[in-house]
Amino acid sequence: MTKVLVTGGTGYIGSHTVVELLNSGYEVVVIDNLCNSYIKVVDCIEKITGKRPTFYNTDLLDSTALEAIFNTHQDIAAVIHFAAHKAVGESVKKPIDYYKNNVGATVMLVEAMLKHKIEALVFSSSCTVYGEPDTLPVTENMPVKPPVSPYGNTKKICEEVIRDCTKAYSLHAISLRYFNPIGAHPSALIGELPIGSPNNLMPIVTQTAIGKRNKMQIHGGDYTTPDGSCIRDYIHVVDIAKAHVIAVERMLKNKSAAPYEAFNLGTGHGNSVFEVIEAFERTSGVKLNYEVGAKRPGDVMSIYSDTTLANTVLGWKADYDLDEMVISSWAWEKNIQNIYPEL
Ligand code: NAD
Ligand code: WQD
Repeated sequence: MTKVLVTGGTGYIGSHTVVELLNSGYEVVVIDNLCNSYIKVVDCIEKITGKRPTFYNTDLLDSTALEAIFNTHQDIAAVIHFAAHKAVGESVKKPIDYYKNNVGATVMLVEAMLKHKIEALVFSSSCTVYGEPDTLPVTENMPVKPPVSPYGNTKKICEEVIRDCTKAYSLHAISLRYFNPIGAHPSALIGELPIGSPNNLMPIVTQTAIGKRNKMQIHGGDYTTPDGSCIRDYIHVVDIAKAHVIAVERMLKNKSAAPYEAFNLGTGHGNSVFEVIEAFERTSGVKLNYEVGAKRPGDVMSIYSDTTLANTVLGWKADYDLDEMVISSWAWEKNIQNIYPEL
């Protein structure tokens, strides 16, 4: 069995990817320090797949522990690197934490991979590298803009570090630039469950619907979009997870067109915040208590992907539509209490 190391594998996107890897016949080793996820995720992955990934509660910044893991698993064929801090607002207040955890850990991970002759890396990048795009939809060869936040800058820098390493060393890498991942596994056993208060739209919607919050705010209703709210390319997390398996296979089968490649992962469609709320209210039958508030600083007005490259080169496309995304997010929110009664 081919072995894949997944950093951040108990997190939101990582856990869904571990499920897809196990279902595709890979053996999986997970490293996560649980700074933004729960150990129970490993049990839930086992419930879904009937297989248990090897789990290390390890900080990537602990070079001794990292080296020990690579020594124990000499047969790792590829690495998928999710582990990072991801709160845009927090990154403005704590840039050192973000540069250390996101950039520092990536450098250490790549260094360890090179030492152990592991030549395939998938990196979690983000549409944030495009900033406020000049034209839509966004293609991969559009200029990467000066990032609006330290978090965004860490994604841009990590892409550059990895690209430079693919030029200098025997390393292949694929950066996957996710647009807005939402939704949850159809089992409702794993989903988005950050520690503390979420910042992203979908968990705020479902927490409001279930009563964890009294009210939510729409951040700005007077943008020059058709309904006044921001437009994003929401994509189901299971679709994103499947792309990682394809990316790993592409490198392991020597199909990469270049040592470093980057692909957008989105649906190619933009939806406004009001459209997300409408889809949620209609499919759940729950009326959301919301108010239209001020614009959120740093928000881009409108962004959605051109996915031609991922469709044609990777042979990947998003299968789930917005209704399926919000339905699965809601099923997950309603199941959280059953799995985590202590929360
Ligand atoms: P997440 O916080 O749910 O998962 C990240 C995981 O990494 C967590 O389980 C956390 O405990 C772990 N982690 C963080 N730092 C670590 C360290 N030093 N050592 C070991 N483990 C560590 O986040 P997610 O939404 O699953 O995002 C995964 C990746 O995708 C991140 O790199 C993020 O920047 C990127 N991304 C996310 C989105 C999004 O909207 N969710 C969009 C684009 C890109
Ligand atoms: C979506 C839309 C908000 C909350 C962020 C990062 C980006 C990437 C994905 C990692 C926006 C609106 C939100 C709320 C609202 N992550 N909103 N009320 O900002 O598009 O992207 O996550 O790489 O880098 O910046 O996602 O889910 O926060 O917001 O009206 O309570 O929902 O204004 O238009 P965003 P989001």
